[in-house]
Amino acid sequence: MVCIHLKMAVGIALVVLLSVISVVSSTRPKEKTVVGIIGQPVLLPCGCSKLETPNYPTKTRIYWQDSNLRVLHVFKDGHEEYVHQQTWYKNRTTINTDQLASGNLSLLLNPVNFRDNRLTCDVILIINGLTSKACQITVNVAASYQKPKLTLNSTDMTLVCSTHGGFPEYQVTWRTHNRTLEPQEAVNKTTQDPGTGTYNISSRVNVTEGQNITCSIYNTLLNETQSNAIIIEASKGENHLLKFSLVAICPLVILLIAVILCLKYPNFRKPWRKMIHCCPKPEPENTAQQPEIAELNPQQ
Ligand SMILES: *[C@@H]1O[C@H](CO)[C@@H](O)[C@H](O)[C@H]1NC(C)=O
Ligand SMILES: *[C@@H]1O[C@H](CO)[C@@H](O)[C@H](O)[C@H]1NC(C)=O
Ligand SMILES: *[C@@H]1O[C@H](CO)[C@@H](O)[C@H](O)[C@H]1NC(C)=O
Ligand SMILES: *[C@@H]1O[C@H](CO)[C@@H](O)[C@H](O)[C@H]1NC(C)=O
Ligand SMILES: *[C@@H]1O[C@H](CO)[C@@H](O)[C@H](O)[C@H]1NC(C)=O
Ligand SMILES: *[C@@H]1O[C@H](CO)[C@@H](O)[C@H](O)[C@H]1NC(C)=O
Ligand SMILES: *[C@@H]1O[C@H](CO)[C@@H](O)[C@H](O)[C@H]1NC(C)=O
Ligand SMILES: *[C@@H]1O[C@H](CO)[C@@H](O)[C@H](O)[C@H]1NC(C)=O
Ligand SMILES: *[C@@H]1O[C@H](CO)[C@@H](O)[C@H](O)[C@H]1NC(C)=O
Repeated sequence: MVCIHLKMAVGIALVVLLSVISVVSSTRPKEKTVVGIIGQPVLLPCGCSKLETPNYPTKTRIYWQDSNLRVLHVFKDGHEEYVHQQTWYKNRTTINTDQLASGNLSLLLNPVNFRDNRLTCDVILIINGLTSKACQITVNVAASYQKPKLTLNSTDMTLVCSTHGGFPEYQVTWRTHNRTLEPQEAVNKTTQDPGTGTYNISSRVNVTEGQNITCSIYNTLLNETQSNAIIIEASKGENHLLKFSLVAICPLVILLIAVILCLKYPNFRKPWRKMIHCCPKPEPENTAQQPEIAELNPQQ
């Protein structure tokens, strides 16, 4: 007997507990976070079964408002009402009035602006004078970064990685030969476009010839990584100069030395002439050369 009573008591307690939990969960507004892309529409989703009442729509008001109580959209007495709408949201909000009765209180915000970042929209229902919050939707704004561009300055051996059009602001990361560069190894610059609010990011590092280096930018909101890699080649300009000096200047210097020797030390002429066939013979000296050769070869 005691046992049965105990079982019943536990059973009742459980039912009471479950109903309390269900009441709590039904009154708590649905919280959601959505990601809106700059310049594109974003849906602030909200579903609510409360509107399935005989009082809809005449005894019902619906307010979509942000955390500063600025109104995004109003539905009142069966119509959309724009008198109280905040200028910032003008021409950017749409609801599906046909689906309100079935509990679809979603709001479309179009287009998303970077200033909408962290917008928290509350959907407030007023039915027969009773106020309740149906949903709370937070918008995180994002925009994709472009694939970074790598620009090498071979004069001072610096490499600049630049990308633009992204949101929110992120740091560039550099990797070279399986090592991530330290923050102090890069000089960064970030600018924000005043119109679109998107960021231009550039980061400069020192590089050496033969270095294999990768620049990446990760957008955590979009889980998107954009990267570009380069292998620093030997500086072409210096290479040409080096080749030019080896190919053209060295023989010129050798030739000059040979000429000077030929002119300054006539006694060395013969052995030099035997050694270097290219030794130039200036015209006036040619005449003086003839007898010398004849003298040395008396047999002829
Ligand atoms: C909204 O659109 C109307 C008509 O296209 C235009 O006259 C009005 O200036 C716009 N309002 C805002 C705040 O952009
Ligand atoms: C609710 O309405 C929006 C348009 O306002 C629509 O995009 C969405 O698919 C609807 N949701 C449901 C569950 O029908
Ligand atoms: C490369 O770096 C040098 C020295 O800092 C600078 O004078 C030059 O303008 C740079 N060249 C380019 C193309 O940025
Ligand atoms: C510059 O970017 C590097 C590369 O990832 C980053 O680690 C560092 O914190 C940034 N440095 C500054 C001064 O912002
Ligand atoms: C890169 O580093 C990781 C861990 O630091 C190591 O396991 C891996 O072998 C390295 N790869 C190369 C190619 O050095
Ligand atoms: C790059 O090299 C220059 C010249 O050697 C030096 O002054 C500068 O601090 C270096 N930059 C970085 C970020 O290490
Ligand atoms: C950002 O980069 C783009 C493309 O390179 C350029 O057109 C724009 O002027 C830059 N904006 C700022 C604020 O630097
Ligand atoms: C350069 O580094 C990238 C990324 O670590 C790697 O995929 C590539 O094979 C490397 N190239 C060379 C020639 O080492
Ligand atoms: C991010 O994307 C990678 C592949 O692109 C995926 O493996 C990973 O699960 C994603 N992470 C999140 C948090 O979505």
